[in-house]
Amino acid sequence: MQKIIKDHISKLKSSATLAINEECRLIQKKGKKVFKFGFGQSPFPIPKAVVDELKKNANKNQYLPMQGLEELKKTVALYLHKNFNYKFKSTNILIGPGTKELMLLLQICFDGEIILPTPSWVSYAPQAVIGKNKVHWIQTSSKNNWFPTAEEIENKLKSIPNKNILLYINSPNNPSGAVCKNYEEISKVVKKYNLIVLSDEIYSELTFQKGLKSISNFCPDNTIVSTGLSKWCGAGGWRLGFFAIPEKLNVLKNSLKILASESFSSVSAPIQFAAISAYSDNHSDYKKKVTNILSNIGNYVYDNLRSNKLSISKPEGGFYVMVELLNSNFSSSSDMCKDLLKKTGVALLPGSDFGFDKKKLIARLSYTDFNGKIFLSNTTGSKKLDDGIIKKYAPNVVEGIERIRQWSNSF
Ligand SMILES: Cc1ncc(COP(=O)(O)O)c(C=O)c1O
Repeated sequence: MQKIIKDHISKLKSSATLAINEECRLIQKKGKKVFKFGFGQSPFPIPKAVVDELKKNANKNQYLPMQGLEELKKTVALYLHKNFNYKFKSTNILIGPGTKELMLLLQICFDGEIILPTPSWVSYAPQAVIGKNKVHWIQTSSKNNWFPTAEEIENKLKSIPNKNILLYINSPNNPSGAVCKNYEEISKVVKKYNLIVLSDEIYSELTFQKGLKSISNFCPDNTIVSTGLSKWCGAGGWRLGFFAIPEKLNVLKNSLKILASESFSSVSAPIQFAAISAYSDNHSDYKKKVTNILSNIGNYVYDNLRSNKLSISKPEGGFYVMVELLNSNFSSSSDMCKDLLKKTGVALLPGSDFGFDKKKLIARLSYTDFNGKIFLSNTTGSKKLDDGIIKKYAPNVVEGIERIRQWSNSF
């Protein structure tokens, strides 16, 4: 058959997450139990008040303005100001069908090169390929909490002649679970080289310690803030996210608006009306409980896996940790994950999918394999949850962790 796919698109593989789901389905079909620690999505239900708003607005049938519903943009700008001290106006907000789509459009219109820390979320690099923007990786380490230092960024910049650079920072981080603490030094490099920063803050409401900062607090004119409903509100399937774009980057905003109008037109109207409630009503009780459950389960995973066989950093937000197997002779993280899945039924995502060298035997573990609705209705506020409660409401996490522990002891 004649070639009908563009070269740069034919190089893309199907998403790592989808591939692991497929493998899990095959194992389940054989009647075996699978511990789904590969796929990462919130296990919690959407707050009832937000669902009620969606029901109330199901009759909204008109296309909305392509940048988003005015009232939602105003609400979002106010929410960003109150919660994170960002100074965006409603005109700086662009509502999209999930931040993933907005990031793709950004790669399509941006003409320059991309700096990605290793590890990075699985979709950044493929999206750069689609946008034909060259990717430069910076290897991070647990010593620096899995974020690049200012010096590492500056050294990388010296090797890139192109002056248009887009730097991705994602905190709390998928896959490391770490929170960035060196924004101040990074922001100095950002200003010195006039970089554009995409600050992916999709997990920001799920930070375990109070007082989260963003790089946008340090270099607001250079930073696009990207966040949405998918993680904190348990609404990944609703597909609503937004960019907050500073005035200085208006040319980018204008191009993104055109790409939005030529692709998704505008986000589903009922979802946008319901999102007003998500960003204006007080959901602090829900957020507190959800964060408390995640932080306690994260600590459980850390306490029970840390050993002389496995290296793991304590999670600080979101719902992931990375686990590194020490002293074994697998040839790649992907072979390691296949062995684990075959022998124990536990599915993890290999570190190579996040930009690590395939020989580094590290993998992402998502600790969301539990019924969030039942857990949420049986917990109060920010109390420490003992192991008994975690065993009762997150039995798959507990059993899966034990299976990983035993597997790691065989090396
Ligand atoms: C780090 C990170 N950024 C962005 C996204 C995309 O989120 P959205 O549902 O807003 O497209 C995800 C979802 O998995 C993610 O983990």
